[in-house]
Amino acid sequence: MTTVLVTGGAGYVGSHNVLALINAGYDVVIFDNLSLGHSEIVEILKNQSAAGRVIDFLKGDLQNFQDINSAFEKFDISAVLHFAAFSQVAESVKNPQKYYFNNVYGTLNLLKAMIENNVMKIVFSSTAATYGEPEYIPIDEKHPQNPINPYGRTKLMIENIMDDYDSAYGLKSVRLRYFNVAGADTKSRIGEWHVPETHLIPNILKSTFSGGQRFKMFGTDYDTKDGTCIRDYINVEDLAKAHLLALKHLLNGGGTNFYNLGTNDGNSVKEVFRTCEDVTGKHIDVDVLERREGDPASLVADNKKSLSDLGWKPEKTLTDSVASAYAWEKIYQETLLNGELNKCH
Ligand SMILES: NC(=O)c1ccc[n+]([C@@H]2O[C@H](COP(=O)([O-])OP(=O)(O)OC[C@H]3O[C@@H](n4cnc5c(N)ncnc54)[C@H](O)[C@@H]3O)[C@@H](O)[C@H]2O)c1
Repeated sequence: MTTVLVTGGAGYVGSHNVLALINAGYDVVIFDNLSLGHSEIVEILKNQSAAGRVIDFLKGDLQNFQDINSAFEKFDISAVLHFAAFSQVAESVKNPQKYYFNNVYGTLNLLKAMIENNVMKIVFSSTAATYGEPEYIPIDEKHPQNPINPYGRTKLMIENIMDDYDSAYGLKSVRLRYFNVAGADTKSRIGEWHVPETHLIPNILKSTFSGGQRFKMFGTDYDTKDGTCIRDYINVEDLAKAHLLALKHLLNGGGTNFYNLGTNDGNSVKEVFRTCEDVTGKHIDVDVLERREGDPASLVADNKKSLSDLGWKPEKTLTDSVASAYAWEKIYQETLLNGELNKCH
């Protein structure tokens, strides 16, 4: 039986990957300190073990070497999917130390534990933020990596460390550079649950519930088709499929590589907004504000390399992502929100 360690498995992207892994026949060990992830999500995931696969949960912090080392001592792990990180750009600018310690030092501990326990395969959540200001669109993997904030720099440092560790120790990595992840589990078992939420789609959807903030649109004078920023929204279930393919590549003896995960297509903020109105059937109040600093006009992935090498092709549309996100948001608003607020105070 193949057991995969999933760091950050109680978070948004990690939890959807846990579901994909057990559906594909893997056993899973979730390693998470629950700093941003949720014990409720872990419970929901554990209830899916009926598929015959085992999901174990180990509460621990990557910044503590013993915590992560004990995961490898306790379980017979074949490979790692590494999602655990802090990922809010604005916070990383204000408090870079928090990001370098958690993302870079935490990953150094993880890689040390892997090497000491002879686990030499890792799939890593990198980001389009490693490219920085785009020099051309769509962005392929040959685009220079010049991140413009500490968050992006932590991820690029980790990519570089992984190359050095391959040369020196033979540690094989696949780095997946996500564009904007969106959507939720099609069966609405889990979904996006960030506190605070900084992503566009859940924030538009939240504004449709009572007590929700009016939606703020930043900048309508960009040099784009309708003046608003364009981003590449990649569905979280499509994303999880790419992780399975990357994992299979490594388990079959494949080497280190890196891929964009996006759709090759972009949607403007206004298009996303209209899709949310269509899906919810609600009118959404909007405040138009000035541009935010550091928001490029357009970020779209060239995903041909992941198609040709991994055979990965995203299948879901923006409407699919918004519809699944809305179904999850209803559950969140009706059942989980009160519990979460109680937990915070
Ligand atoms: N969501 C996106 O659009 C997006 C885009 C690009 C890249 N990424 C990357 O994908 C990964 C997952 O993102 P997400 O949106 O699911 O974030 P998330 O905050 O929902 O999940 C991160 C998880 O990691 C855990 N964690 C953080 N630090 C830890 C530590 N030191 N030890 C143990 N656990 C720790 C948190 O508790 C949380 O459960 C991150 O690495 C992020 O940088 C996400």
